[in-house]
Amino acid sequence: MARLFTEPKLIVASHNKGKLVEIADLLTRFEVETVGADALGLPEPEETGTTFIANAELKALAAAMTAGLPALSDDSGLAVDALDGAPGIYSARWAETANGRDFDFAMHKIEMALAQKAQTQGGDVARSARFVCALSLAWPDGHVESFEGTVEGHLVWPMRGKNGFGYDPIFLPEGGDLTFGEMNPEAKHAISHRADAFAQLVAACFADRVA
Ligand code: IMP
Repeated sequence: MARLFTEPKLIVASHNKGKLVEIADLLTRFEVETVGADALGLPEPEETGTTFIANAELKALAAAMTAGLPALSDDSGLAVDALDGAPGIYSARWAETANGRDFDFAMHKIEMALAQKAQTQGGDVARSARFVCALSLAWPDGHVESFEGTVEGHLVWPMRGKNGFGYDPIFLPEGGDLTFGEMNPEAKHAISHRADAFAQLVAACFADRVA
């Protein structure tokens, strides 16, 4: 049985404004007040974990224990089967260039790695992939509840669509005709890895507040 969240206030342990707004929006129906890690001047811990959940937990625990308030954190990325799960927890790092993050560059890197793999194997290579999102809710006493959401799909090439962010233009969700880059945001958010993880979190920790 997961621990229920009964407090009125929650830190969103992210320094990313977009995520902060998205999570605050998702929590408004539970009448939870959210505050960003930046607003509290909390440092951003190094993501030294080897799994999505390990990274989400270390960020949530660091914030909760430093600030003395419960904290929610996430870690996400794209896992490509033929690349043994890469870029995975390094999804943001694959986009690093001398001039900042460039996801066109990161998507080309994935396509090149798949082509290289096909060449060494002497044939076609599987293009199955999934987006993964880990969500961790931590309390100041060190207790933590974690959930992992996924959305399965295939990689397309060339890139398609200008919506979304990151790797969205090459990700075709299972059973769909449009990439995440072509879908409207509401349609993506209804089936995304973040929505899946959030639904699990709500069912487990906000069960008493569900209308
Ligand atoms: P994080 O901020 O450390 O969780 O990094 C996640 C990275 O994974 C992002 O920078 C994106 O590149 C990628 N990613 C995670 N979720 C999505 C998504 O919904 N669409 C596209 N890319 C995503």
